Amino acid sequence: MKGILLAGGSGTRLHPMTLAASKQLLPVYDKPMVYYPLSTLMLAGIQDIMLISTPEDLPQFKRLLGDGSRFSVRFEYAVQPKPDGIAQAFLIGRDWLGGEACALALGDNLIHADHLSTLLQAAAARPVGASVFAYQVRDPERYGVVSFDANGKAIEVVEKPTAPTSNWAITGLYFYDKHVSDIARQIKPSARGELEITDLNRVYLEMSTLNVEKLSRGCAWLDAGTPDSLLQAATFVQTIQSRTGMLVGCPEEVAYRMGYIDAGRLRHHAMHLGKTDLGRALLELAEGEVE
Ligand code: DAU
Repeated sequence: MKGILLAGGSGTRLHPMTLAASKQLLPVYDKPMVYYPLSTLMLAGIQDIMLISTPEDLPQFKRLLGDGSRFSVRFEYAVQPKPDGIAQAFLIGRDWLGGEACALALGDNLIHADHLSTLLQAAAARPVGASVFAYQVRDPERYGVVSFDANGKAIEVVEKPTAPTSNWAITGLYFYDKHVSDIARQIKPSARGELEITDLNRVYLEMSTLNVEKLSRGCAWLDAGTPDSLLQAATFVQTIQSRTGMLVGCPEEVAYRMGYIDAGRLRHHAMHLGKTDLGRALLELAEGEVE
């Protein structure tokens, strides 16, 4: 399975911070925002990743992430000229995907959970259909929303409903089978002129192949698209890291835990981060001082 990291858009809800900088490169506590969804894709076992961003911002992502060899992943870069919708990612990535199954992670989403890699790898291993994750929120009208029947079966998906019939938001992490690019081609722009990811999910729902996994209350899902949610995400990461000493959203750590790099390479990356707390934490991991 391949993965797409979508990091374009205009970040208007974060102006003026995003007037001269990409939203997904803003810091979430001690790391650039894009590190969090990148870590999620890597935890799913994905090592072929296409990063899509705007023509202006793409060079900065290349500068940050390079060819991916640091994390033992392979990066491909592609431009989205205009923010014409999330589902457009599969049209932009079509040739690169070459008919393979693909996961999509939105560049401003952070998921933190126990046994997350098991959950993600199970979704990645499903050969048919699509898998999405639902999370209970107080403000479902801000998101794609899924409703269930009395048996817990997903029956409806709606993008930003004015009168939500459920408080289950669909998170910005999606797993699709090999038909995704063909299905994305059938989607028509919505009233706001975007190729909506919810319309793509609805096609799978109508084929009875949309698997909706409810994230339990022990999971944290945050997006960082507004000043408040950006601050909340940063505070969350700081709280977990300083309290437990465990890292959140660190691709070097994930590469090590997934067995992509050995302790020697992890130590090398840790030294590169100098005297930062992050560098120290990675060094302790490489030296076997933390589990
Ligand atoms: O965060 C989860 C939600 O993300 C889902 O529940 C919604 O169904 C989905 O539509 C999306 O809603 P948002 O309102 O958060 O979408 P937004 O336009 O903010 O885009 C999400 C990310 O994708 C953001 O980092 C920018 C990027 N993006 C978006 C569009 C529309 C692109 O790179 N290109 C695009 O064309």
